[in-house]
Formats: sequence, C-alpha cells, structure tokens
Amino acid sequence: MLKKIDIQEMSLNDLEKIKDILISDFDDFWNYNILKDELESPNSKYIIAKTNDGEIIGFAGIKIIINTADIMNIVVKKSWRNQGVGSLLLNNLVSICKDLNLLSLSLEVNEDNHPAIHLYEKFGFKNIGLRKNYYKNNDGIVMEYSLNVPTD
Ligand SMILES: CC(C)(COP(=O)(O)OP(=O)(O)OC[C@H]1O[C@@H](n2cnc3c(N)ncnc32)[C@H](O)[C@@H]1OP(=O)(O)O)[C@@H](O)C(=O)NCCC(=O)NCCS
Repeated sequence: MLKKIDIQEMSLNDLEKIKDILISDFDDFWNYNILKDELESPNSKYIIAKTNDGEIIGFAGIKIIINTADIMNIVVKKSWRNQGVGSLLLNNLVSICKDLNLLSLSLEVNEDNHPAIHLYEKFGFKNIGLRKNYYKNNDGIVMEYSLNVPTD
C-alpha cells in the first residue's frame, strides 16, 4: 500500500526518535551530537519526511549565512531510497529558501556520491568548484542553485 508522506519541521524530539538508528538506518556522515547542535542553532532549518503511520524516513537541513544557504544534510532512510523522498525533501528546502528570499543554495558532495549528484543535477544545481582531496581519497564537488534571480 502506498503511504502518504508529509514534510514537517524537524524537532529535537524527532532526533531522539531516530537517535539509535541514525548510523545504521540513515548514514554515518553526521552523529547525534552534531545534529543536535544544528537543530539548536538559530541559523539552521531542518525538516523531516514522515509517513502517515509516524515513521521518520528522511531529514534534511540548511544553514543560513546572510542571504545564502548551505545544505548541511539530506538523508533518506536506506529502505526508502530511490522512491522520491530525497526529491521531496530537496524541493521543500528550495521552497524554504525562496520564501526567505535567499539568493542561492549551495552544497558540497563527494565526487563518488552518484545518487546525490544525480538528485542535485535533476534540480538544476550547477557544479561551481572542486575541493581537492576534501575526502580521504576523493575530491568534493561544490554545487550551487540560484534562487530568486532578479528578472530586470
Ligand atoms: C542522496 C539521497 C538523499 C537521494 O535520496 P532518494 O530518496 O534516493 O532520491 P530520489 O528517489 O528522490 O531520486 C532522485 C534522483 O536520483 C536518482 N537516483 C536515486 N538513487 C540513485 C542511484 N543509486 N544511482 C543513480 N541515480 C539515483 C533517481 O533515479 C532520481 O532521478 P530521476 O527522478 O531522474 O529518476 C539518498 O541516496 C541518501 O540518503 N544518500 C545517503 C546520504 C547522502 O549521500 N546525502 C547527500 C550528501 S551530499
């Protein structure tokens, strides 16, 4: 049966709910303490994707720096990947940034992370730079999405 998926603002309570499965079921990029700091930061905005039966199946967050934002995180639960949840989260992050009248949304991604690069390219993010050996054996690709581009 298809489940309805809602996007909501992420709370500390949501983080507590996924604390024990964060690394095993989501990813190991970020640990609980860093995420908790992020959620408590006034410059961060985090969202979750949640099924109608209450399962948190993804989360994503940005950090706002003056009139731009950086994507700090976008992670879908392993069992839910490649079913459109990442696109739903990214779409919502873009809407949040547009509502805040920000100029651009940037991120940095491991050159080997093909699912993520595919997702960002699908949304129109452009490759704007390379951070050489940012990861152990790989470069980091810096990508940017322009928002609220003036029409005149
Ligand atoms: C990156 C990530 C968030 C994508 O989420 P998702 O829910 O699987 O993405 P979607 O289902 O919305 O798919 C988005 C696009 O990527 C494509 N895609 C998904 N998984 C893919 C894969 N393994 N290889 C190639 N393309 C893939 C989809 O086909 C889709 O493109 P399409 O609409 O043209 O078919 C997810 O893979 C993830 O959580 N990865 C681990 C954390 C991570 O790396 N985050 C990014 C850090 S920069």
